[in-house]
Amino acid sequence: MHLHVNGTLHDLPDDAVAPEMPLLWALRDALNLTGTKIGCGIGACGACTVHVGGEPQRACVLPLSAVGTRPVRTIEALGAPDQPHPLQAAWLAHQVPQCGWCQSGMLMAAAALLERNAAPSDADIDAAITNLCRCGSYPRVRRAIHAAAAARRAAAPARKR
Ligand code: FES
Ligand code: FES
Repeated sequence: MHLHVNGTLHDLPDDAVAPEMPLLWALRDALNLTGTKIGCGIGACGACTVHVGGEPQRACVLPLSAVGTRPVRTIEALGAPDQPHPLQAAWLAHQVPQCGWCQSGMLMAAAALLERNAAPSDADIDAAITNLCRCGSYPRVRRAIHAAAAARRAAAPARKR
């Protein structure tokens, strides 16, 4: 089975993955991309959020057969230490994470929001970011998204991502 993840086409052996395997298992166990976390495992918390074909998806309930040829993007490809995504920079500036477990999913959900809405309102953020955080980072998440959106608008059109 082939899986296109973070710009690389992976050939996963059939004895390691099955079509009904959730994407999250393939990412973490077959590809060792452990930045995507498991929380509830039933599609409720959003800790496992990745992008599939540019859309945020909960990888714990998405079988590989439903991914098909669509490209997958995980937190490992959102930015780099020397070139963080504006959201990652804002996350640091606003000290968003507490325990951190939900945060890669939060960031991927937020990144998908900014791709389709350059200036989200509080209501837009609340509607789009349905991820759960047991540490209650929601106010900081909201502030950081506003900050990142402003930074992206200020950087446009030089910004490429
Ligand atoms: S672990 Fe996937 S939604 Fe909670
Ligand atoms: S930072 Fe701990 S669950 Fe969100």
